[in-house]
Amino acid sequence: MKFYSRKLIKPGDLNANNTLFGGQLLKWIDEEAGIYAMSKLGNKRVVTKYISEIDFVSSGKQGDIVEIGLEFLAVGRTSISFRCVVRNLVSKKVIIKIEKLVFVNVDQEEKAVPHGKTLADLIPLAPRGNT
Ligand SMILES: CC(C)(COP(=O)(O)OP(=O)(O)OC[C@H]1O[C@@H](n2cnc3c(N)ncnc32)[C@H](O)[C@@H]1OP(=O)(O)O)[C@@H](O)C(=O)NCCC(=O)NCCS
Repeated sequence: MKFYSRKLIKPGDLNANNTLFGGQLLKWIDEEAGIYAMSKLGNKRVVTKYISEIDFVSSGKQGDIVEIGLEFLAVGRTSISFRCVVRNLVSKKVIIKIEKLVFVNVDQEEKAVPHGKTLADLIPLAPRGNT
């Protein structure tokens, strides 16, 4: 899993208990994963289709920096799916886990259309070692 972006938890990101508001965290994740899907598929018309069970593992506090990690799960005909983990940048303590986020490639009429990519297109093979 690669951790692509970081967010600073500010006063406006908190809930009534003064910990990170889950809705704010989900907004960050949806945006980050959407941008990743758009960049990988080469299309800015990509929409969130499905988000699986969400496990809020631990809380985030004001002033903490969190990092958002994404990993490919699957590449379909019109869709692309990721797994997500968000953790504290310093302590590495996990804050949230989402097993599956699905994004769909759409056309101007917002209909699902094939993106034409395969997993091999999106994850280049690692260079071969000497052994
Ligand atoms: C995205 C949308 C165009 C897809 O329409 P649809 O009629 O479900 O399209 P399809 O049935 O062809 O499915 C499209 C892809 O989504 C996948 N999919 C559909 N329902 C799914 C579900 N419940 N869970 C996971 N994947 C799902 C399909 O497997 C397909 O992927 P594939 O082509 O890679 O196999 C439509 O559901 C939509 O507009 N939803 C609203 C999106 C939106 O506004 N999101 C922003 C947040 S509100």
